Amino acid sequence: MLRVDQVSAGYSGSRAVPRVVEEVTLRVDAGEIVGLVGESGCGKTTLARVITGLHRPHTGVVRFGGVDVHGLRGRELRAHRRQIQMVFQDPYLTLSPRQTARQAVAEPLHIHRIGDARSRAARVAELLDLVGLDPPAADRRPRDLSGGQRQRVAIARALALGPRLLVCDEPVTALDVSVQAKVLNLICDLRDHLGLACLFISHDLAVVRQLADRIAVMHQGRIVEQGATAQVTTAPRHPYTRTLLAAAPRM
Ligand SMILES: Nc1ncnc2c1ncn2[C@@H]1O[C@H](COP(=O)(O)OP(=O)(O)OP(=O)(O)O)[C@@H](O)[C@H]1O
Ligand SMILES: [Mg+2]
Repeated sequence: MLRVDQVSAGYSGSRAVPRVVEEVTLRVDAGEIVGLVGESGCGKTTLARVITGLHRPHTGVVRFGGVDVHGLRGRELRAHRRQIQMVFQDPYLTLSPRQTARQAVAEPLHIHRIGDARSRAARVAELLDLVGLDPPAADRRPRDLSGGQRQRVAIARALALGPRLLVCDEPVTALDVSVQAKVLNLICDLRDHLGLACLFISHDLAVVRQLADRIAVMHQGRIVEQGATAQVTTAPRHPYTRTLLAAAPRM
C-alpha cells in the first residue's frame, strides 16, 4: 500500500549532503502496523512529512496505492490526503481550543461536504464511540479533557474521512504509562476492526514493540535495520538496535 523507495530529504534546498533523511526504503502493507524507531533528531518526523506529501524529497519516490504522492496536484492531491492522516504527539496541534470534541470531529466532514447535519452527527457519535471517548466528554473543549481523551479526539478526527493509513508521530510520548497502554490498544483495535494500517513513530522501542508487526530502526537519517518485531527485538543485527534494546525497559 505505502512504498517509500530510496527517499532522501533535507531542509537546505540544495541536494548536497548532509541530508536529514538518507536513501530510506520502507513499506507498509494494508492492515499492518509498522514501527519506526530512532533517537531524537534522527529524521523520523521529516520522513513522516515526506510520506504524507507535506515535504518534498530531494530524490526517491513515495507511492501510495501505486500512485506517486509528490506527483499529485489539485483535486487528486486532496483526494489522496484523505487516505493518509497524521496523529501528533501534541493534540493541540490538531485541535482548536474553541471547538468541543464533537465539533472537532465533525469539522473534516463539513469541509468535505459529506452528508447532511443529521448523518454527520450520527457519524461523529459513531467515531467518538469507536475511540472510546466517554459521552460526557464529547461536549468539552481540549483544555477540559485529559491528555488521553485529547489524543482520542485527535484520532477520531483523523478517522473522520476514512483514511487507509494513519501516520502516528510519537502519539503517546506525552501520556502516562497507563494511558499510553490504552491508546496503543485503541490503535490495535482500529487495525482489527477497520483494517487500518499504521506507521507508528517513536523514540521508544519498548513502546513500539508492544504493537508493531514490523519494526524499522532509524539512525542518523538511515534505516539501519528492519524486520519482524520478534526478530528485531530478540535477534537484532545492527549494533544501534542493540543499544536501543539495552535502553528499553523489559516489558
Ligand atoms: N524545518 C526545519 N528546518 C531545518 N531543519 C529542520 C527542520 N525540521 C527539522 N530539522 C532538522 O532535521 C533533523 C531531523 O529532525 P526531525 O524532526 O525529523 O527528527 P525526529 O527524529 O522527528 O526527532 P524527535 O524524536 O525529536 O521528534 C534535525 O537535525 C532537525 O534539527
Ligand atoms: Mg519528531
